[in-house]
Amino acid sequence: MISRALELAARGAGQVSPGPLVGCLIVGRGGETVGEGFYIYERVKHAETLALEQAGARARGATAYVTLEPHAHTGRTPPCTEALIRAGVARVVAPIEDPNPLVSGRGFARLREAGIAVMVGVLEQEAARLNEKYIHSLRHNRPFVHLKLACSLDGRIATRTGDARWITGEESRARVQRLRREYDAVLVGSGTATSDDPLLTDRTKLPRRRLLLRVVLDERLRLAPDSQLARTAHESHVLVFTSETADARQVAALEACGVEVLKAASGARDLVSVLEELHRREVQGLLVEGGASVAGAFLRAGLVNKASFFIAPVILGGDAIGAVAGAGALTVKEAARLRDVETARHAEDVEITGYLKAVNREP
Ligand SMILES: NC(=O)c1ccc[n+]([C@@H]2O[C@H](COP(=O)([O-])OP(=O)(O)OC[C@H]3O[C@@H](n4cnc5c(N)ncnc54)[C@H](OP(=O)(O)O)[C@@H]3O)[C@@H](O)[C@H]2O)c1
Repeated sequence: MISRALELAARGAGQVSPGPLVGCLIVGRGGETVGEGFYIYERVKHAETLALEQAGARARGATAYVTLEPHAHTGRTPPCTEALIRAGVARVVAPIEDPNPLVSGRGFARLREAGIAVMVGVLEQEAARLNEKYIHSLRHNRPFVHLKLACSLDGRIATRTGDARWITGEESRARVQRLRREYDAVLVGSGTATSDDPLLTDRTKLPRRRLLLRVVLDERLRLAPDSQLARTAHESHVLVFTSETADARQVAALEACGVEVLKAASGARDLVSVLEELHRREVQGLLVEGGASVAGAFLRAGLVNKASFFIAPVILGGDAIGAVAGAGALTVKEAARLRDVETARHAEDVEITGYLKAVNREP
């Protein structure tokens, strides 16, 4: 039942941030499903409310399977705990607490106080995964960072002339589009912005609540006003982090295109400040798409939560650009190693995705 509720929750993908993905299933006393719902930010109504509306009187004595702790406070909607209590639900099964300090533990406490049996912990890991961006951004006040790179068999992301189009095949690139849809923002370094002239949009055509925010780290402000990013800035926001000494004429030229140029003393080098700024803009999840210097900087700072490498059966050889720049590890033992690894095939390419061990050092 919780699996089904998680499936329902996932239907809100791209449409809930800065809120969580939530699904709810109401199962009547006879074991039949009497209500289903999932959350979408713009629809306002919570998953529990939608499922309870469907269930009507059949919710009395039923079990509600909810993927996240129901909230007991008044936010954009009245408390879901009260709706469950009023409907006469006998039992609530939920995998995890809501890390939102306004909710955390209080929702379950309120339900128990009203005599409802509460069962917590079923499929806990799956539920936490589903909302990894929401949970991380609430706990750490900065976005969940997912590094994505496409590389050759010999671990290169571009030839020695900087050519990277296309290392991976169409299926991998379609998968990257779907990945972009799961994120609020995508980020590249100025090297990639100038050499690839990328568009960095979500072209899945699937519904999403806010357009993907496109971010460039660009101390010397090299982004050209006639780049694809600048030319489309009026349609889809582009945010450039640069230094206080950036050329005023270049700033004006980019701003005239609709690009937002953020000058800061720490420029683009201080990645924690960059992430904090994105958090202020309600970015829950950030997809970092390279290049090598930016990937290295995020990894060295221990700021990568998840990484996906798309490996194509091609050998670039010679002085081609390695996937991750910088000094790198001294020993294999010290190297960044992924855990909870999953692999997938995309035609001839292989995707390896996992979580970074070094991350979340903070309590
Ligand atoms: N296959 C793939 O998945 C993939 C993905 C992306 C790129 N690429 C390829 O990679 C190459 C570009 O890689 P790259 O390493 O030269 O460029 P990059 O990582 O895209 O950009 C590096 C530049 O970003 C600026 N920057 C600003 N803040 C930074 C920070 N905190 N950390 C690091 N850099 C920061 C620096 O220039 P300023 O000093 O001017 O700010 C730096 O030189 C291209 O050939 C591209 O085709 C391949």
